[in-house]
Amino acid sequence: SAPRTVLLTGAAGGVGTLMRELLPPYGYELRLLDVAPVQGAPDAVVADLADRTALREAVRGVDAVVHLAGISLEADFDKIMAANIAGTYNLYEAAREEGVRRVVLASSNHAVGFTRRPREGEPVVPVDTPHRPDTFYGLSKCFGEDLAQLYWDLHGIETVSVRIGSCFPEPTSVRMLSMWLSPADCARLLHASLTAESVGHTVAYGSSANTRAWWDLSTARALGYDPQDDSEVYAEKIVADKGLPEEGSADDLYLGGHFCVDPPRWPH
Ligand code: NAI
Repeated sequence: SAPRTVLLTGAAGGVGTLMRELLPPYGYELRLLDVAPVQGAPDAVVADLADRTALREAVRGVDAVVHLAGISLEADFDKIMAANIAGTYNLYEAAREEGVRRVVLASSNHAVGFTRRPREGEPVVPVDTPHRPDTFYGLSKCFGEDLAQLYWDLHGIETVSVRIGSCFPEPTSVRMLSMWLSPADCARLLHASLTAESVGHTVAYGSSANTRAWWDLSTARALGYDPQDDSEVYAEKIVADKGLPEEGSADDLYLGGHFCVDPPRWPH
C-alpha cells in the first residue's frame, strides 16, 4: 500500500525546504530530520546522521524515508566520509532494524560527472552508464547507490536512487538548462519513487522535461514520473546573460560541469 508517513532527512536544506511544502499535498505526513534546526518546525528531529540511536527513533514507524541529508558539495574526504558515507550507512541500518521497506535516496549527477555530455545528435546518457564520479562528493553518491543495491539484494529494502540534476526554483546557468529539476517536478518524481511498485533498486535521472536534457528519463518515467516543466522558457535570457560555456571547458565537456576542474587534468 502507498506510504503515508515519510521521514524527510535534510529538511533544513534547499531541496528539503521546498519538499516540505510540496510533498504534503500528495497526502504524506512528514517527519523532519536535520542536523540544523528546521525553521518553523519545532517538532523536527535535530540530529546528526552519526547518531544511530536518534536515527533509529526517527525511522521508527514510518512507511518510507526520503534521504536528502548530507554534504551537497565537494568537501574534505573526512567530512564526506562521516556525513555521506557513514551517515547513509547508519540511515540504512536504522531502516533495516526498524523494518522500513522503501527509501528514496538523493544521488547526484556528480556520481557520473566525468561522463561526456552528449553533443547535438548524439544519444543521451543512459541510466546504466558506469559510475564516473567527479569529486569525493560524487564518489559518496556512488557509494550510496551501491549501498542501496546491497540492501535490496541482502535485506529486501527497496530504493529509488534519484540522480538529481539541479533542483532550484529557477535555472541560473547554461548547464542548468540541461540539468534543471523544477521543485514541482522534484515533488512529482519523489512521489512516483515512493509509490511505484516493485522498484527493487532503481536508478533514475532527476530532471524536468528539458529540451536540452543530456540524459535518459525512461526509468524515471517508468516509475510514473511525468515531468511538466522545461527549462527552455529561461534559455534565451540565460544564454544572453551568461554566454555559452567556452569550448573545451569542463562546463562544455562533462555532465558534472565545474565540479570536474579540481584537479585540472581535463580534457582527457
Ligand atoms: P543542502 O546542503 O541545502 O541540504 C542538505 C541538508 O543536510 C542541510 O540542511 C544539512 O544541515 C543537512 N546535513 C548535512 N550533514 C548532515 C548530517 N551529518 N546529519 C544530518 N543532517 C545533515 O543540499 P540540497 O541542495 O538541499 O540537496 C539535498 C540532497 O540532494 C543532498 O543529498 C544533495 O547531495 C542532493 N543533490 C542536490 C542537488 C541540487 O540541485 N540541489 C543536485 C544533486 C544532488
